[in-house]
Amino acid sequence: MLHLERKFKLIFQHLLRNLSLVHLMPRNTYTASLADRHILYQEAVQNPSFEVDMIRRMYRKYHKNDPYSLKEDFCGTFLLCRKWIEKNKNHSAIGVDLDKKTLRWGEIHNREPMKPEQKKRLTLSCANVLDVSHPKVDVVVAFNFSYWILQKQNELLSYFKNALRSLQKNGLLLLDAYGGPEAEREQEEERKCDGFKYVWEQSYFYPITREMGCKIHFRFKDKTELRNAYVYRWRLWTPPEISSLLYQAGFKAVDWYLEGTDHQTDEGNGIFRKSKRGTNADTWIAYIAASK
Ligand SMILES: C[S@@+](CC[C@H](N)C(=O)[O-])C[C@H]1O[C@@H](n2cnc3c(N)ncnc32)[C@H](O)[C@@H]1O
Repeated sequence: MLHLERKFKLIFQHLLRNLSLVHLMPRNTYTASLADRHILYQEAVQNPSFEVDMIRRMYRKYHKNDPYSLKEDFCGTFLLCRKWIEKNKNHSAIGVDLDKKTLRWGEIHNREPMKPEQKKRLTLSCANVLDVSHPKVDVVVAFNFSYWILQKQNELLSYFKNALRSLQKNGLLLLDAYGGPEAEREQEEERKCDGFKYVWEQSYFYPITREMGCKIHFRFKDKTELRNAYVYRWRLWTPPEISSLLYQAGFKAVDWYLEGTDHQTDEGNGIFRKSKRGTNADTWIAYIAASK
């Protein structure tokens, strides 16, 4: 009987997967062979509602009015574009990513559920972020450190110049960054999510070139593991390098907003304050606002 039940469960899970309905799987049945890495990533890593509100707040701080058009560079499954569009009927978004398969996944899971009128406000571009600068938008974002894939100074400078070109007069580029001694350490960190564990591994770091390797793994209740679900080869850019390249690209002002600490948990408290020099923490995380 038990055997039959298990067999039925497996067939059911395979059906959900083949029909791209993995998100309907009960969480306690997540397992490595059936898990969908994009669903797990969206749940464990992204916080689009927080980011939509942060983008609006940040823009108002600089312009006293609201932003409407957004370009999400390195958009992956463009969950942020979706949440941006759903937030307000006047919002529009462009998502740019060069990975066809990831965009396709996003079309099924993030574009399909949108209303027809909302879909009209979403543009997807399967292209290099260095090549897309039209139509111009109020805000360009590149989150989750994705611009760190550009490791050479001239590449990052070209990216910043293109982001500047993409902005309307007075537009804003928003980026994120992290650092501190812990960011340079080879280590693995596990965090509990609903139905699985998210694992962040810093697999190598070279201090002279500041090249770093990071990986995301997912662990499940049945002891299976989805290893190397995402693998990144980045450069751990320092704040002065990032600011200096942004100014070189032509941005008028560059401000850093560092996250405060919750002193009870010793974790970030989700409150980002403008800081000129930062505080000497083991790890710090920041948003960067660069104005045109
Ligand atoms: C870390 S994911 C970022 C996903 C999402 N932005 C987020 O906040 O979680 C990086 C994405 O960048 C894309 N990518 C890498 N280099 C790119 C480039 N030069 N132009 C466009 N997309 C690129 C990859 O295909 C991948 O989907």
